[in-house]
Amino acid sequence: MPKRIILFDTTLRDGEQSPGASLTVAEKLIIARQLANLGVDVIEAGFPIASEGDFEAVKQIAQNIKGPAICGLARTHEADIDRCWEAVKYAIKPRIHTFIATSSIHLEKKLRMTQTEVVELAHKAVRFARERCPDVEFSPEDCARTSLDYMCEVVQAALEAGATTINIPDTVGYAEPEEFAGRIRYLIEKVPAIRQAVISVHCHNDLGNAVANSLAAVMAGATQIEGCINGIGERAGNAALEEIIMNLVTRKDFFNVEVGVNTREIFKTSRLVSNLTGLGIPRNKAVVGQNAFSHEAGIHQHGVLSSRQTYEIMTPEEVGWEGENLVIGKHSGKHAVAALLEAEGFRLDPDQLNQITNKVKELADKQKQVAEDDILAIARDITMQLPEEEQYIRLEEFTVTTGSGLTPTASVRLIVAGEKKIGAAIGDGPIDAISNAIWSIIGPSLQLVDYNLKAITGGTNALADVSIKLADQKGHLFSARAVDEDVIKASALGIVKGINKAFRSEQKIHSQAV
Ligand code: KIV
Ligand code: ZN
Repeated sequence: MPKRIILFDTTLRDGEQSPGASLTVAEKLIIARQLANLGVDVIEAGFPIASEGDFEAVKQIAQNIKGPAICGLARTHEADIDRCWEAVKYAIKPRIHTFIATSSIHLEKKLRMTQTEVVELAHKAVRFARERCPDVEFSPEDCARTSLDYMCEVVQAALEAGATTINIPDTVGYAEPEEFAGRIRYLIEKVPAIRQAVISVHCHNDLGNAVANSLAAVMAGATQIEGCINGIGERAGNAALEEIIMNLVTRKDFFNVEVGVNTREIFKTSRLVSNLTGLGIPRNKAVVGQNAFSHEAGIHQHGVLSSRQTYEIMTPEEVGWEGENLVIGKHSGKHAVAALLEAEGFRLDPDQLNQITNKVKELADKQKQVAEDDILAIARDITMQLPEEEQYIRLEEFTVTTGSGLTPTASVRLIVAGEKKIGAAIGDGPIDAISNAIWSIIGPSLQLVDYNLKAITGGTNALADVSIKLADQKGHLFSARAVDEDVIKASALGIVKGINKAFRSEQKIHSQAV
């Protein structure tokens, strides 16, 4: 009988820690709903003590999303665990995930605690969590760099306190597949009580081994894998959940395990996460990249035309990939736009759909046809807009003067916290001038650290797609994106969106431990 592998999605917790990827509560709810459609078993919805926003997102997901277990993260402090329980308790299947670091370097340099103190704290925290919640996961953070015997001691203590899942994280992406599998085998051999619990793994991708390490652990006896859609996450990210799923499904002959997901929802989920986080997907990314199912080379095309199996080990349909660049003209209506965006994972309310359709039609009037990439850019622009009441600043008006022999000069009128503010500046070019004019109002608390401009499709009347990154004084990054036919306006709107994001998450404390 094949074993059932539990898929634990942490896109909304560990994934959201990707630099610049912060999501609103509403966006997290949309992603959680799609993760439930995909059929993951557990959604780690956030870190409730980290901020009001995280708490609210976990709570709303627990209240509204049926199917998967809903999990929240907590350090071993009682206040963290209580806050986590307050958020997850509404779920039909709530879970508390508590963690403490166990590697010598973390004990000495970060926690300044002895091994015995950490064992005691882990035991106490799990027991405290179990008094509230029947499902408790425990993680010895940085486990892949923890001595094997000390790992066993901590895990034994967590099991005695009632942990139902023991998660083995490779927090810094240090392990090699055979070594990591050996660690799981060692644990099973030395801590027999673990057979009553679920053995989970959580791998980061610093050396590019996250998926391989997770799969090696399955072969060694792990039955839960943690990961993020598109492999997003801090630094090089977490194990890409869609790659794990397709390995287990495509190579069932090898792994002999079952998963409970609907693989046809993968593509939609991937695009939704990319659209809402603003983190693009490399074209050659396994399973969900744009090139994953295209065959350029003549010899491959010939083979695929004779029999798809010559070069395809899985079909585009299996992962829900719905075809190539569809073109929309000015006579295509709302339904065509809605169908296209639905297939790309967008969940739109009627007002957003109207705004997008109107903008697409405006563009089609000028360009005759609007390509899919343009429509996606417009949809991203509109859906990533914060609701008006959450916008700290708004761009009201701007003028830019430039020309040969003239110094580019810009003036802007912004509404900042309800008040009109005017700024003016010169710059090396018109975009630099408008950016300087905005900063003359906002001040030095934020800095533009990255600016990228792309013409999406078409000729000189193409849409300009601007993505920017801002950094605050603590080094937190905030990314934003805006599109417009006017490249200067797109740039100003991108900066304004980034500033809004930064101000919104000002209070957010991310624990330095995760
Ligand atoms: O990478 C890590 O160790 C974590 C833990 C909280 C599981 O994210
Ligand atoms: Zn992690």
